[in-house]
Amino acid sequence: VKQLKVALLGAGTVGAQVARILLEDTTELTRRVGAELTLTGIAVRNLDSQRDADLPAELFTTDANALITDADVVIELIGGIVPASEYIRTALSSGAAVITGNKALIAQQGAELHALAAENNTVLAYEAAVAGAIPILRPISDSLGGDNITKVMGIVNGTTNFILDKMDTTGAAFDDVLAEAQALGYAEADPTADVEGHDAAAKAAILASLAFHGNFTFDEVHCEGITKISAADIAAAAQENQVIKLLAIVAKSDAGVSMRVHPTLISRDHPLAAVRGAYNAVFVEAENAGDLMFYGQGAGGNPTASAVMGDLVTTARALVAGALTAPVEANELPALALDDVQ
Ligand code: HSE
Repeated sequence: VKQLKVALLGAGTVGAQVARILLEDTTELTRRVGAELTLTGIAVRNLDSQRDADLPAELFTTDANALITDADVVIELIGGIVPASEYIRTALSSGAAVITGNKALIAQQGAELHALAAENNTVLAYEAAVAGAIPILRPISDSLGGDNITKVMGIVNGTTNFILDKMDTTGAAFDDVLAEAQALGYAEADPTADVEGHDAAAKAAILASLAFHGNFTFDEVHCEGITKISAADIAAAAQENQVIKLLAIVAKSDAGVSMRVHPTLISRDHPLAAVRGAYNAVFVEAENAGDLMFYGQGAGGNPTASAVMGDLVTTARALVAGALTAPVEANELPALALDDVQ
């Protein structure tokens, strides 16, 4: 059986879970893929503070570059722009396939990274970057690739949904609930990205790029977070039979593409009001398909690891077949110019 070398960068909530899955009995995965997936190492910044006690110590290294250059597939789960961007560029340049959950990076440099992957006849996949376990990127770029998507809208940040939901149901204070979301592994390393809406804005840019077959970046998204929402705002909404949800909305019309993230008052009867805790929900409108709805766990180690593993299986199958076809499409030729963004 062919062997594929998998290098993992990062051992945080998601990275550690991906490592656990790859270290379990992988007989069934080998059967599905047609190759054995071998975890060759886990790169971390600091061997003492970043080592997960359940994982074999000998797999950990601080030499990410050595691990990357020897790998068939590199899984980047350290997050942030630096050094993740350099590691991904090194991996793609060496012809390795790259899987990442790094929404900030893709929302900023996605087009360049796709071009680099294409130049090196390899792939860049990032289903884990948007809405955790929910399969949403491949559906909008591939399954609906022959349709005309006009709008993608929904709750794409688990931390803020968890906070708003808890404030609504228990009357708890913002800071206490944020601490709980962090302890549960939903929040980003710096939770400012969640509560200021930046995480949702990065996801909005990725959704727009794939849904509208263009190149849209984080800084073009109108963004307002939830830090100004008080317990009194939530109580006032409740009196009107409404809830406050942080929505990401990207839409395409003859006038161009609009992208925004902001808290929105919605009726308790609306399906989005039923999205509780760290769950996410994404609605898609397409000309021929009509309305579609995707729902599931949007944050947390196990759900996000599921999305990473899906990309790994897809990528490994392509490597085994010797036919590398990007799971998400290359965006180097935008059909819509940036000037069209409203
Ligand atoms: N911090 C993110 C969230 C993790 O809360 O949704 C998943 O992208």
